Amino acid sequence: MQVSIFGLGYVGAVSLACLARDGHRVVGVDVDQAKLDLIAAGRTPVVEEGMVQLMADVAAGGLVSVTRETRQAVKETEMSLICVGTPSAANGSQDQTAMLGLARDVGIAMREKTVPHVFVFRSTLVPGTVEDVLLPIIEAESGKKDGVDFHVCFQPEFLREGSSIRDYDKPPYTIVGANAEAPATKLRELFGHLPCEFYTTSIRAAEMVKYCCNNFHALKITFANETARLCEALEVDPFEVMDLVCKDRQLNISSAYLKPGFAYGGSCLPKDLRATMYLAKIRDVDLPMQAAIAVSNRSHIDHAIAKVMVSGKRKIGMIGLSFKTGTDDLRESPLVLLAEHFVGKGMQLRIYDPEVQLSSLLGANRQYIERHVPHIAKLLDNNIATVIAESELLVVGLGDRRVCAALIDHVRADQVVLDLVNLSDRDELRGHYVGLCW
Ligand SMILES: NC(=O)c1ccc[n+]([C@@H]2O[C@H](COP(=O)([O-])OP(=O)(O)OC[C@H]3O[C@@H](n4cnc5c(N)ncnc54)[C@H](O)[C@@H]3O)[C@@H](O)[C@H]2O)c1
Repeated sequence: MQVSIFGLGYVGAVSLACLARDGHRVVGVDVDQAKLDLIAAGRTPVVEEGMVQLMADVAAGGLVSVTRETRQAVKETEMSLICVGTPSAANGSQDQTAMLGLARDVGIAMREKTVPHVFVFRSTLVPGTVEDVLLPIIEAESGKKDGVDFHVCFQPEFLREGSSIRDYDKPPYTIVGANAEAPATKLRELFGHLPCEFYTTSIRAAEMVKYCCNNFHALKITFANETARLCEALEVDPFEVMDLVCKDRQLNISSAYLKPGFAYGGSCLPKDLRATMYLAKIRDVDLPMQAAIAVSNRSHIDHAIAKVMVSGKRKIGMIGLSFKTGTDDLRESPLVLLAEHFVGKGMQLRIYDPEVQLSSLLGANRQYIERHVPHIAKLLDNNIATVIAESELLVVGLGDRRVCAALIDHVRADQVVLDLVNLSDRDELRGHYVGLCW
């Protein structure tokens, strides 16, 4: 394939060398003449393991050329990988100056092009940038149409400095965000041979995944380091602890607990986190990230409350009260906090929870209910159809199949359903569906 690469920093230079190694003809473009001169001389513009030899090899192979001319690079190639820097501005926002300038330049270059071209944005970009900002610039400058004369897509880059050639050859996955088939098909030709899954998604989701991955990495590093500081104060070996934490592939290093949903609660997580915070406090260990967990969890509950309040509805039905599906445990259930809020605001509230109902009938958990939430217990109704019928808005905190079926059967078109559990059959609901954050 004939590929141009804009921005020959870490990402662009490694991509240029690896694509030329794989037999593609590559045109490198940068505004920095020194980088162009180095590449033209078969030398690497970035310090990376393996790059000195690889650049010498590909330069000798004759498949690499360099230019400062955007027009020439777009004209001579069928696809452009755009890898210019997107650093932080002073206020923390993304500085897109280089990217915006380049979008204008490639748009102007497209005026003269008579065959379709694919623009692959590989720089990290805040979600929405490709579709809302860059695509309109290219269309306006070129006078041409996306999907007809050219395509745009976003392919996040996952290589790490220091091991970038190895990461290029073995990425965690290839993700292509595109609004048409054509660009994904072309990228399969370039990257489909790599030993990883190839996923296509929306452009915005692909932009967001890159941020999500980097933020998750930062979170993991900080979690390990906070744990180590507390271990140090407790005279525990942090390596031993984190090694064992990582050996649990069922709950820890897995997709468990990583699906969007409602707030955590129950008899373990809140109390153990509190005890950890207390341990840290009395030993003067600062754990700001873990201290923020409970604050963030409360924000999530407040988010649900806000969605109910903004609806203006005052007759509320709650489906589910215990802290998760399949248990009758009400201790620190975030759904109890929701119920208490609605009662406190003087709203009409009915609650259906088959597990809690059963336990109060049989007496299990009854003591807890009578001692701590008697005001809530008396709002329980064991008939889901009645709870639905008497409500203007339903808060669904239980996702089992029987609940879904009852909602599909009984919800009316004039009712609002606030879904906290990502209901699988929501398309079949007659009411006005509102997701918690989706
Ligand atoms: N460095 C990494 O490990 C890494 C990994 C994944 C993603 N990324 C993302 O990839 C992007 C590039 O990162 P990098 O570290 O390679 O950046 P870099 O700063 O090393 O290189 C950017 C290059 O773009 C050039 N440039 C600026 N304006 C240009 C223009 N108009 N035309 C052509 N070239 C131009 C600069 O001269 C520079 O050589 C960033 O968005 C970054 O967040 C970086």
